[in-house]
Amino acid sequence: MASPAAGGVVIVGSGLIGRSWAMLFASGGFKVKLYDIEQQQITDALESIRREMKFLEMSGSLKGSLSAEQQLSLISGCSNLTEAVEGAMHIQECVPENLEMKQKIFAQLDRIADDGVIIGSSSSCLLPSKLFTGLAHVKQCIVAHPVNPPYYVPLVELVPHPETAPATMDRTYALMRKIGQSPVRVLKEIDGFVLNRLQYAIISEAWRLVEEEIVSPNDLDLVMSDGLGMRYAFIGPLETMHLNAEGVISYCERYSEGMKRVLETFGPVPEFSGATVEKVNEDMCMKVPDDPVHLASRRQWRDDCLMKLSRLKHQIQPQ
Ligand code: NAI
Repeated sequence: MASPAAGGVVIVGSGLIGRSWAMLFASGGFKVKLYDIEQQQITDALESIRREMKFLEMSGSLKGSLSAEQQLSLISGCSNLTEAVEGAMHIQECVPENLEMKQKIFAQLDRIADDGVIIGSSSSCLLPSKLFTGLAHVKQCIVAHPVNPPYYVPLVELVPHPETAPATMDRTYALMRKIGQSPVRVLKEIDGFVLNRLQYAIISEAWRLVEEEIVSPNDLDLVMSDGLGMRYAFIGPLETMHLNAEGVISYCERYSEGMKRVLETFGPVPEFSGATVEKVNEDMCMKVPDDPVHLASRRQWRDDCLMKLSRLKHQIQPQ
């Protein structure tokens, strides 16, 4: 829980991700100010957060030790950025993924921020060196990239600019832990950060296997959801190596030749176009038609599953 003396958090951009951050910070007892360029977005965000928190409380999934009403009382809207930022200890930028738009916002924040506040960006793939270079407060800037939906998927990638102060990384790490998220320190910036590099490696091989007619799109997905994904919700690929032999060294001794042989057969980066797109799309649309109603209902089901998985992960004590 945040101490009453702790400064507040400002969310810049009250869309999908901004709303989730607001709920997470309030669950940790922090005062949150929601700012947006569109007043209506702030109004809609406050209403949807109220609905969501009440639902979470009823279903026993509300995070933190405060009631929904107590958490809601910590969140307020603010249509003036300078007023919102005054006295804040953390600013989390959540405007659309557009470099120029984000650079403008950071230039604005740079003019009004004091030397103690941390300026975080939710960017999924824009490099810190593109976002923050030249800012007077660059030492206080860091990418804090969440995963959708952040309320149920706790990972946050922390990616520093080359000039980000180590204290900024440490403070952001501690803050994320305080609100129940699971931060990782990306030690140097790299295109795609870590999560998307892993995700794209998987998508890329999945695509090639379908393109080469080794497996159908639906069966490919099953390999992940009923196979690898089952264990990846609890242990990563490196620990998998450790447990699947008598430790990592033994795994490498036993399997490195086989791994290298298979890896050498991987094809080039796919084009993600033409007949394979048609084929994947056809199979996916048979399962989930791509109209807004069916997509929304499947997303709701996915989020329910993630909520249940998140509860299970909390019940299971780490060894
Ligand atoms: P969104 O489109 O839902 O929300 C963006 C909000 O920013 C809107 O409310 C808009 O009115 C507001 N906005 C636009 N210009 C502004 C300005 N100059 N000042 C203040 N507010 C402004 O976008 P979403 O999905 O919430 O994404 C936000 C960021 O989070 C992006 O960088 C995105 O890459 C990142 N992200 C998104 C994920 C997702 O699955 N949607 C997952 C992880 C990160």
